[in-house]
Amino acid sequence: MKIVKKIALGLLLVLVLLQFWQPERPQLETIAENEIVFTSTEVAGIVQKACYDCHSNQTDYPFYAYVSPLNHWIQEHVEHGREELNFQEWNTFSDKRKAKKIHEIVEEVEEGKMPLESYSLVHSDAQLSDEERKMLLDYFKALE
Ligand code: HEC
Repeated sequence: MKIVKKIALGLLLVLVLLQFWQPERPQLETIAENEIVFTSTEVAGIVQKACYDCHSNQTDYPFYAYVSPLNHWIQEHVEHGREELNFQEWNTFSDKRKAKKIHEIVEEVEEGKMPLESYSLVHSDAQLSDEERKMLLDYFKALE
């Protein structure tokens, strides 16, 4: 019993110490004219609520994004997401890159891969309804 208690205390201590291990969360400067402009405010709203946490410079971190070791996993998603597609850097993309990203968006949304499941599970407002999914798809397909 004693040993179990010691191990439990040891693990607790590790968990507490882990909290000091935080990833960097770079604050990126956003230049207004680089941001994508949607001709539909509804589509803009859907993208902002369902995609911006990982595909823009403005990530809204919930409290658990600061809890180790979750924090590293979440920040990894944010950085990888931004790298692949950042709607606030959209106008810096070449026409070719834009076309490729539009194609990818249609593909990912059609296959239900985006927003990431681990994200929409906890962000119920980011879960796309059938209607929202259709609106997004119609919008981006028209740009293809
Ligand atoms: C929780 C973070 C997160 C959210 C929210 C999210 N994404 Fe992503 N997205 C990622 C990550 C990480 C990648 C790169 C890895 C991958 O493809 O799975 C990615 C990749 C992509 C890609 C692929 C880009 C390429 O060129 O291959 C597209 C397109 C995309 N996301 C669109 C969206 C759209 C549209 C939404 C909203 C409906 C969204 N994502 C929401 C994290 C996210």
